[in-house]
Amino acid sequence: MAHSRGSYSCACFYTDNIYIEEYQMHVRYTDEQQFTQEYQKALQSRGCRTAEKLAQVLETVKKEVERRIQLAEESQQRKSEIALHYKPLHPELYVLQESFLAAEFLEAVHFCQSPHASLDGLLNLLDSIPGIGFFIDKRIYQLPVFVPQFCKDFVEELEHFERSALAKGRPNTMNNYGVLLNELGLDDSFITPLREKYLRPLVSLLYPDWGGSCLDSHKAFVVQYSLDKDLDLSCHYDNSEVTLNVSLGKEFTDGNLYFSEMREVPANERRYTEVEHLMGQGILHRGQQIHGALPITSGERWNLIIWKRASSVRNKLCPMCDKEPQLIETAGQGDGFTVREKEIGAQTLDVCAVF
Ligand SMILES: [Fe+2]
Ligand SMILES: [Zn+2]
Repeated sequence: MAHSRGSYSCACFYTDNIYIEEYQMHVRYTDEQQFTQEYQKALQSRGCRTAEKLAQVLETVKKEVERRIQLAEESQQRKSEIALHYKPLHPELYVLQESFLAAEFLEAVHFCQSPHASLDGLLNLLDSIPGIGFFIDKRIYQLPVFVPQFCKDFVEELEHFERSALAKGRPNTMNNYGVLLNELGLDDSFITPLREKYLRPLVSLLYPDWGGSCLDSHKAFVVQYSLDKDLDLSCHYDNSEVTLNVSLGKEFTDGNLYFSEMREVPANERRYTEVEHLMGQGILHRGQQIHGALPITSGERWNLIIWKRASSVRNKLCPMCDKEPQLIETAGQGDGFTVREKEIGAQTLDVCAVF
């Protein structure tokens, strides 16, 4: 567990990738002078033309930095409050059972664990699942993960939690509505076994170059979209090596996901692929692949997102600032960086790539 060996974030967490929703921009903030110099023009071109509006943006950015500074400690507090006071509606959902998982998913996992496992074999198997699309050129794979009953019960559980008076954290800087699964107490008994026992064999074959066989931590959350909450999700990349995004329903129209190239491809050279996301189905993609969600036009949508991280990959290059990470120890889970493996990073990566 990342926790026992110390949790680390990169210093860029407190300065970089701050999202300004109104102008759909990601910015960096160290002080007012730097911010104004770097972004005033771009903000003006997006409609932020008065001193008042610029001051408002600055206020929002500073608040976000403040939120990030407090985040780890506040999250720990919420987690202990929830553990003490929250009465689950479906307590049986908190421990991962094989009965939650779709037959096709289990079949794919078993194949990956078998002596004749191969990437081609796995792709053939995925291809044979009816109604499933995958996009080899973009390395996006869709497969059923959970059975419909689990999705229904799980959303009920989350709605039950939403109705409680307990404090809730935001899933990430771009989604305003949802639940952090670590705070709800689902990490150790649900997400970690899902990652280690079931997702690892799949991801080892699909993404060996992204630390697929040595993913050692994650951040898991559920995001919620509805007409009175968030409708869509702008283009972005994740703070992960590999992401799993599972649709939990409920009923909604439109809202396809879209995927582009990896983030280093210039914006004018990107082509987009749309993917319809059906209940119970998971989409696996590389975290650094540009993606987003189109607006839903009716209904309500819940998605379970797992950002899977490999310390052996990110210790060399922080995916959020593109530099060698400058580690800061945090009170909470951190962002998947480690100290020990950083020192032997090159060696660790080679070992993983062989799998
Ligand atoms: Fe994402
Ligand atoms: Zn960084």
